[in-house]
Amino acid sequence: MDYINLAEQIKRKGIDNIDLAVVLGSGLGFLADEVDGKTVTYGEIKGFPKPTVEGHSGKMVLSKIGENNVLFFQGRFHYYEGYSMKEVVVFPRIAKLLGAKTYLVTNAAGGINPDFTPGDLMVIKDHLNLMGTNPLIGKNYDIFGPRFPDMTDAYNPELRKLMFEIGDKLGIDLQSGVYAALTGPSYETPSEIKMFRILGADAVGMSTVPEVIAARHAGLNVAGVSCITNLAAGVSPNPLSHKEVLETTEKVKYHFGKLITGFLETVVI
Ligand code: HPA
Repeated sequence: MDYINLAEQIKRKGIDNIDLAVVLGSGLGFLADEVDGKTVTYGEIKGFPKPTVEGHSGKMVLSKIGENNVLFFQGRFHYYEGYSMKEVVVFPRIAKLLGAKTYLVTNAAGGINPDFTPGDLMVIKDHLNLMGTNPLIGKNYDIFGPRFPDMTDAYNPELRKLMFEIGDKLGIDLQSGVYAALTGPSYETPSEIKMFRILGADAVGMSTVPEVIAARHAGLNVAGVSCITNLAAGVSPNPLSHKEVLETTEKVKYHFGKLITGFLETVVI
């Protein structure tokens, strides 16, 4: 992946000097439709991957939110779609090259913690990389960061605190938890979910972790919010479906939008 070339093309289309980037997860892309700003579709950038999954389109929107220049990515690239890890981490790397200091990830996730209810929003406090691979494997990109990047406080403690303050101010209850990432695309078995609970996972999903690893490698401060769209396999007696995931995101749209917008308005980069 020639990240520099991709970033140069995006700059030529009028997107540059961003403060932070936001990736909108499954069913959460509506936020990019609600903000005003310069829009570039992924298809306009030569060499950019194209999303394939229902609930994802594919565009970036640069918008001024409060004092911040925010670049929204609507539609992400998942490993299960067949993209390489180098493609999966295109957002944090482009964000870095466009000047971002902060990277906010959002996703849809299954709830493992028995205290969680579908519709809950969970501030990610740490992750478990259970994907069996790592986006930094291969020659190190020295322009982004070191060979062996530290992953302590991968999810920035100050940004997490701010997210809770915004939640408090807006009257939105927030959960906190550990996000476990699997490749998918099959959902997990009940036995796997039991194992992940023992390992310390509160929620499970198929994205985010590679991007966060690449973002931290590049020195970006990371914040993350999961929308708990369903109870994970075996936590609920019902079978899982992508339809349920999208139905829940539809229900939490309002709170999710308020929280993310409140955060973007307030955060000082
Ligand atoms: N498992 C994995 N990924 C998910 C889930 C789940 O239960 N819900 C939303 N994304």
